[in-house]
Amino acid sequence: MTQLFTTPSSNSNPIDKTTIAVAPMEGVMDHTMRNLLSEVGGMDYLVSEFIRVTQYAIPAHTFKRLVPENAHQAKTKHNHPVHTQLLGSNAELMGESAFNAVQSGATHIDVNFGCPAKRVNGHGGGSVLLQTPDALYDIMSNIRKQLPENIPLSAKIRLGYENEELLLDNVAAIESAGVGTLTIHGRTKKDGYKPPARWEKIGLIQDRTKMTVVANGDITNADSLLRCKAITGCQHFMIGRGSLNNPFVFKQIRAQLNGVEQTTTNDALLNLFNSYCKQLKEHYDEVASLGRLKQWCGHLRFEYPTIKEHLQTLRRSSSTNELIERLNEIF
Ligand SMILES: Cc1cc2nc3c(=O)[nH]c(=O)nc-3n(C[C@H](O)[C@H](O)[C@H](O)COP(=O)(O)O)c2cc1C
Repeated sequence: MTQLFTTPSSNSNPIDKTTIAVAPMEGVMDHTMRNLLSEVGGMDYLVSEFIRVTQYAIPAHTFKRLVPENAHQAKTKHNHPVHTQLLGSNAELMGESAFNAVQSGATHIDVNFGCPAKRVNGHGGGSVLLQTPDALYDIMSNIRKQLPENIPLSAKIRLGYENEELLLDNVAAIESAGVGTLTIHGRTKKDGYKPPARWEKIGLIQDRTKMTVVANGDITNADSLLRCKAITGCQHFMIGRGSLNNPFVFKQIRAQLNGVEQTTTNDALLNLFNSYCKQLKEHYDEVASLGRLKQWCGHLRFEYPTIKEHLQTLRRSSSTNELIERLNEIF
């Protein structure tokens, strides 16, 4: 694989202030996948899967287990910062949990107000809170109060729940609670993942808030990032599904922003696949590792026609070794 960047997360062009983050994705973006993407590089930071706060404050040891990077200055092995994400509706427990996260080593707290899942919304967490700006304020201001001043606090929202009526109120509530950065996924909860993400609405907020706005939704390569940049006026971006479909996306975007065309070889993907398998096996048993590798193949098929063509065969593999052998055969 061509190495274009000497230090992780650095922009080789000092004038280019573009930042690109890896989105939190529950069930997929665990520490093994974060480490894998970080091994390829090109991103500025990654966000953990959401950690749910319901009946009690999450203790520091649970954060250590779920975000093991926190024991290493909240950085991946390849030196990319990892933010710890919380999800919940009880302002006091959220504040206490955020404090405990910092005790576990977290250096940045993010709060999820975008999750559309029924089981999460049913407990009053995630996007359902976008219907009550006062609740957003209470949660964020309480967390801010509990956090040491040097720990940045961010929030991640959708445009709204059923519609966008409360978008400006929600943003104002979050800003007045002392939040520095706001990531906006350009869809309502009702939209689910239906394309396209409405970047123009993100632009509206970018024009009206002093918070740093991170644009999110449907960015998959340099072209879509530049279109999003032109529409939103943002300099900060977050990529979710696109990073699972193409783990090289961050490096490729960085290269293109610097005027270099970068292609990656099949060998680079195979090497990465081997590396992922090895890391998974350090943390999961054979069955779970195989499950995660197959799940990744399901994402990779969107960018790799060879994987799409042979997906059924790959999914029939009964061991991680067999899956890797089959991958080597098809490439
Ligand atoms: C499988 C999956 C899990 C997700 N889990 C989270 C999560 O834990 N926290 C969160 O804030 N957003 C979560 N999201 C939303 C993503 O972070 C992101 O906002 C969304 O996928 C849109 O960005 P994209 O088009 O680049 O994928 C998840 C999305 C997917 C597809």
